[in-house]
Amino acid sequence: MPSYVIAGASRGIGLQFVLDLLARGDVVIALARNPEASRGLQNIKDRKNLHIIKADIADAASLKRAAEETAKATGGGLDVLINNGVYQDKTYIYNTLVDFPSTEELVSDFTKSFNTNVLGPILTTNAFLPLLKKGTQKKVITLNTGLADTKLILDIEYPKLTSYSISKAALDMVNVKYALALKKEGFSFLNISPGLVDTQAPPKPEEMGEVMEMITAFKKGYPDWTPMPMPTAESVGLMLEIIDKLTVENSGKFVSHKVGDFLSTCRYTEADY
Ligand SMILES: NC(=O)c1ccc[n+]([C@@H]2O[C@H](COP(=O)([O-])OP(=O)(O)OC[C@H]3O[C@@H](n4cnc5c(N)ncnc54)[C@H](OP(=O)(O)O)[C@@H]3O)[C@@H](O)[C@H]2O)c1
Repeated sequence: MPSYVIAGASRGIGLQFVLDLLARGDVVIALARNPEASRGLQNIKDRKNLHIIKADIADAASLKRAAEETAKATGGGLDVLINNGVYQDKTYIYNTLVDFPSTEELVSDFTKSFNTNVLGPILTTNAFLPLLKKGTQKKVITLNTGLADTKLILDIEYPKLTSYSISKAALDMVNVKYALALKKEGFSFLNISPGLVDTQAPPKPEEMGEVMEMITAFKKGYPDWTPMPMPTAESVGLMLEIIDKLTVENSGKFVSHKVGDFLSTCRYTEADY
């Protein structure tokens, strides 16, 4: 049975990966910074093949401990790492780079974004690398977003959502650098956008103006795009098809969940996020 670490598994897409992989009979290590607070993980904590381990992806020491615990659970190896965790502070979503409330808040938001969204996957990958080297698949998957695609952002002319898009764009390069550094060792690194997925609370009435502005921007750039979030199960099902087919020839690519058969049209191509 292949083994998977899901980093950032307490809810949303990460939790859905855990559920789907367990249903296939795979061995799943679910990393969460506060597992006791995750109702989703608590509901399934007694399931066979599931190991829930406390780990903060922005904290190298906690990742080192998590990798040691994982090695005990798997016998030393790991087949697939899925970097899923993300930081996004809703307070600043609708600020551009030139109208943050203060420089201090800009620095704080960008520092937290980079610590979790860029350094997080780097620290997690490095912590689990010794285990992955002993695994049979040697795959590292990192969740990214169409909002990190510079062409898409220019097409839709949307200057907001800054720290999220910018940190995720950096993550694209992280993926490329890992792919190159570990190509000879048979590793496959992939960035994947899950599409627009139903993981967030619906917008509050006072946010509707900003939401409509964003949707209008998307529709201008991509008239066929539908602003309808899909269920987590649909997105994760599509992503698992891609992850299963991933080979070292495609290492370093950035694809959409819609890239079916298969990874020829890359980098990121679809107008969804
Ligand atoms: N949903 C979408 O439409 C969409 C679209 C494009 C891309 N994505 C990408 O898909 C991934 C998952 O998105 P989502 O919508 O499922 O997100 P979400 O519902 O907001 O969940 C975020 C997850 O990240 C975890 N996390 C945050 N900081 C962490 C840390 N320091 N250490 C460990 N875990 C941490 C959270 O844990 P806590 O419970 O402890 O906070 C939670 O499990 C993200 O990388 C996101 O950028 C999502």
